[in-house]
Order: sequence, then structure tokens, then C-alpha cells
Amino acid sequence: MVSSFLVESQSVPASQKYVQESNIKNYALHEYAGKNRIAFWEACAEQLSWNKKWHTVLEWNSPFAKWFDGGKLNASVNCLDRFMNTPLKDKVALYFEGERGDQQSYTYEQLYLKVNKIANALKSIGVKKGDCVALYLPMIPEAIASMLACARIGAVHTVIFAGFSSESLRDRVLDANAKILITADGGIRKGKITELKKIADKAVEGLTCIEKVLVVDRSNQNVTMDSDRDVWFEDLVEKQEPYCKPEVMEAEDPLFILYTSGTTGKPKGIVHSTGGYLVGANTSTKIVFDVKPKDIFWCTADVGWITGHTYVVYGPLSNGMTQVVYEGSFDQPGKDRIWDIIDKYKVTTLYTAPTAIRLFMKWGEKYLEGKDLSSLRLLGSVGEPLNPEAWHWYHTQVGQKRCPIVDTWWQTETGSIILSTIPSIMDMKPGCVGKPLPGIEAEVFDDLGNPVSKGYVSILSPWPSMLRGIHGDNRRFIQTYWNKWGGRYYLAGDSAFKDENGDYWIEGRIDDTINVSAHRIGTMEVESALVEHEAVVEAAVIGIPDKVTGQAICAFVVLKDGVASAEMMKDSLKEIVADKIGKIAKPKAIFFVQELPKTRSGKIMRRLLKNIALGQKPGDTTTLENEAVIQGLFQK
Ligand code: WTA
Repeated sequence: MVSSFLVESQSVPASQKYVQESNIKNYALHEYAGKNRIAFWEACAEQLSWNKKWHTVLEWNSPFAKWFDGGKLNASVNCLDRFMNTPLKDKVALYFEGERGDQQSYTYEQLYLKVNKIANALKSIGVKKGDCVALYLPMIPEAIASMLACARIGAVHTVIFAGFSSESLRDRVLDANAKILITADGGIRKGKITELKKIADKAVEGLTCIEKVLVVDRSNQNVTMDSDRDVWFEDLVEKQEPYCKPEVMEAEDPLFILYTSGTTGKPKGIVHSTGGYLVGANTSTKIVFDVKPKDIFWCTADVGWITGHTYVVYGPLSNGMTQVVYEGSFDQPGKDRIWDIIDKYKVTTLYTAPTAIRLFMKWGEKYLEGKDLSSLRLLGSVGEPLNPEAWHWYHTQVGQKRCPIVDTWWQTETGSIILSTIPSIMDMKPGCVGKPLPGIEAEVFDDLGNPVSKGYVSILSPWPSMLRGIHGDNRRFIQTYWNKWGGRYYLAGDSAFKDENGDYWIEGRIDDTINVSAHRIGTMEVESALVEHEAVVEAAVIGIPDKVTGQAICAFVVLKDGVASAEMMKDSLKEIVADKIGKIAKPKAIFFVQELPKTRSGKIMRRLLKNIALGQKPGDTTTLENEAVIQGLFQK
């Protein structure tokens, strides 16, 4: 447990300058929202543009919430149209930089025109309100514009990270019942081309739900086009009218589905609403990132993840911000690329993940030499615990002690940031994610729902950007998030320590998901992929600490009799995981064992495997079915 002395001595205040210039000067907002939660969210909703005002701010029939019921709006209008009669029309919305150094920039008006044309293109191939459109794209402006185009015509987008395999893509397309897939010929990363169209072809082969595949020409690849099904994106978009009337949506109409890993092999399609989600994205961006008109915001997340949805698309654009979008890898062509981009575009706010920070730290300060980072004023982190060592490096080397750090905790399910330090009014503590944002009521509970200092992170009352369900699986939605305390509170799935100041220190997941480079990967997903290998009888997967990626995947595999456990077998097992899920899920270490340790009820004892992988004593083994298994494991 963290002692109060340590907490106290680790506090770091923000610079005087930051405090003076910050939009938030005191706790008035937190206090007001604490006493008038509903009125607070209503005032936040009023910042957006609505076609019709809601009649009820919140209808809560646990665990089903309706926010701003009766209200009507369109998300793309809120990110684009409402700026067209203001000077923001000519403000840059996106500075895009490709890995090879190619550049594009879009003003709000140019992005508006592009989105309108894509929206018309989608309509021309039969996409209607309520249809689902899947996106499997690199991090290029077309990805952002296509999301907004879907929102414009009331189609639900589901973005699948372009690092996922064809099988993962297929599962998601099928689960979401997507009608259209938008992909690219290839994506550029680490100096190489990922053949996205080829992967997509395999994914949708024989799927009857997919009617058309739109292909963005990103990397000049030779691809096979199916003349009945495939259409070049540019050809179709180019010939469209520049205006598409936005669909007027109910606040509760779904805006998107985004898949995330859970405890079973099947990923969960997290459903987000239009009105509530947008209110959460807009408000949290404003509060946490202390938005200023001249900011140049750079969130390094890919749109394939929730961070890209909320803090590349809906949050910054609904706030009229200018942002930088970078397609590629941070070490291309050299390890100073990130610092070059900050210098070049005069980035003021950088939002990235601990795994990236640790990588920059590993590469070293020499890559920062000669780069002008004086434009930076605020740094952010998300996705996994930011350890104090990395925190200090980020603060000192990147922020030059001038820029405070917001370590933000949230999830795909929460839609927007839930816990964060607000550095203008709270001291920062390395490793600590601060307090609930205004309008959020969180707590740390024990099994019985009593507030404790160390326990489960939970959210006590509904918030606008909360998930509305798991696509097609209400039972799983209730079981996963609402069963623990009889439907009263939301179970986030993380454990935390809450110090005497009410600040949260996240410890990690309580379920079987592993956080690799800030991406959630289900142990079951990896295990299912491994057992598909013909030589494998059984597999168990655990997360072990890793200096750069936070956690790494470690697999224990039982092979069929007669199969030699050669090194080569390890490679082919890694390949099958890359094939079934994607490269991000490849195990870092594989151990071959005779048997897996199980409880008498047949549950794999992952804790024990973890001890073994970390070279620790096995601990309590009283529930183990067969003690001899342990001996066998230790001999490995
Ligand atoms: C973890 C990402 C510690 C946590 C936005 C959570 C964090 C999961 C932090 C959600 C943080 C996220 N400190 N852990 N600042 N932010 N996490 O859905 O375990 O990809 O439950 O959303 O990441 O991951 P997801």
C-alpha cells in the first residue's frame, strides 16, 4: 500500500505560468457538478448544437440509461457544420503527415466538403440510417472523414484497427452485420506496406452481409478488384455533390460500435450513443486538455481504438481544435520523428501512451537534442499505468518541467475520460490518475459494495458517454458490468488504491485481459488461437511485466505426444496467433509443459503460472488438483 508520506513527498505542482493561464482556476466546477450533477450535464449538452432540445436529461433504469431523451442532433454537424459561419471555417482542422513525409492539411471547410462527399458516396451505394459500415483503414484523413460521413447519414461505424488479422476483421464485420467495408490498398508502417486489401478480401470472402468494399488508394498497390463488389473510394467520392443533408438523429441512436477484448474468446462490441457520447467527448476534452483557440493538439492514438475515436475525432473536432495526425511508426525514418513533428507543427498538447513514453526513454535523450519543444504546454498519458520513472522522464525531458502531465484513466466502455488530475488545481503525483472529473461519481469498493481504500474501481451513477450495451448481448452486458453489486454500480474491471486525498492509483485489471502497449488483449482469445495449432493440446496465457510494453504475453503450451518442443515450434505458434488475431497479440515467451495446473473444478491457475514465469515461489496451492503438476512445471 502507498503510504501517506510517499504520496505527500511525490507531489509535483504545475508551473505558475500554467496555473495562471489555465481555464480552470478552482474547484467551483467540481463542487457545482457534485451538488447538481444533472444540471451540470445539461449545461454541458447546451454547448452542442441540437435540432431539438431534450425533454428529459436522464432516465435511469439500471443498467439502461437514456440521456437527453427527446433531443435530436447530428454528430458531424457538431464537428463541422456549426463552424461554417464562423472564422473557424478557415482554421486548420487536420495537419496530416504520412510516414514517408507526405503532408496534407484540411481546414474545417475542406474537411466538411470531404465528409459531405463521402456521405453522398455511401448513400449512392445504398447505405441508410441505422446500417453499419466497417472501416479497416490506416491512420489517414479518409479514416476520420469516413467516420464523420457515417455519422452524417446516421450509419453506425465500426472501426477495426488495421493491425488486426483477417479472421479478427471477419468476426467483427459479421458480429456488427456490416453492409459496407471501407479499406485501403495498403497501409504504410515501419517502412513497409501492409496489404490491407488482401487481408480484407480474405476477411469478407463469402460474407453475405457485405455488399460493397470501398478501397482507398493509399500506397499505390496492385490489388485485385472484384468488379461486382469493389469500388475505388476516390472514384466514387470525386463525382459526388458537395452537400449532403445531415440525418437528424435521436440522442440515443447509436453512433458507433467498437470492439474490445473481454474474458471470453469473443470480443465485445461496445455500443455508444450519439448525444451522450458527444457530450462526454466534448466536455472532457475541454476540461482535461484546457482547450485554447491556438492549441495544436496531437493525440497519437489510432482511430482503431477508443482513444482515437474520442480524442482524435469527436472531442477535438467538436471543440474546433487544430490537430496533428501521423500515420506511421515513431522510429521512421529515425528515432527522432516524434520530436521533429512536435517541432515542425508547434504542437502544444501531446497525448500518448506509457508504452510510447518508455520507448522514447529507452531510445534516449539524444534524439531530443536540437529539437525545439518550447511550443508544448501540456502532456497527457492514457491506456495503462504510467510508472513514476517514465513519468519523471516525460516531465523533465519532454515537458522540460514546464508542462504538467495529465494521466487519464478511462475505458472503451466509459467513452471519455473518467479520472484525471486537473493540474491547475491539483498537485500531480507520478503514478496517480487523480480524481473523478466533474459530473462523475466514482468510488473504490470491496466485494460487498463498501467504500474502501483498496478495491474495485466503480462508477456510482450514470454518465452521458457510458456504453449503452454490448452489441447483441444484453446478458453479457449486465453480467460483465452490473452484476457485482446488484445493478447499483458499474464495475470497471480495474483495481485501485484511493489515498486520503481521494486520488486514485490504478493497479491493473481484475479480469483475464492483458494490457500490451495499452491495448487490451483477452487471454482466452490468444489461448483459442494457440489451440487451433494441430500440435497443441492445451494452452494458458498470462501477462508478465515488460519494461516497454507494460505487460507482455507469456504462453504455457501442452503439446501432443510425440511432437518435439523445438524452437521452431515457438515461431509457428507465434505465427498462428498473429494470423488469428494480429501481430499485437503474439506471445513474447512460450513455455512447453506436460500439464497445466488446474483447480479441482478445472479452472487454470494463472496466478501460479505467473509465479513460475516470474521465478517466484508458487504460493498457495491448496486448491490445486494435482500437486505433481507443479513439480513438473518447475523443472521446465
Ligand atoms: C487501462 C483505453 C492505468 C485500464 C482508454 C482500463 C489505465 C483499460 C489508464 C481500458 C491509466 C487506461 N492508468 N490504467 N491512465 N488508462 N487504463 O478500453 O486497465 O483500451 O480498464 O481504453 O486500460 O482500456 P481501453
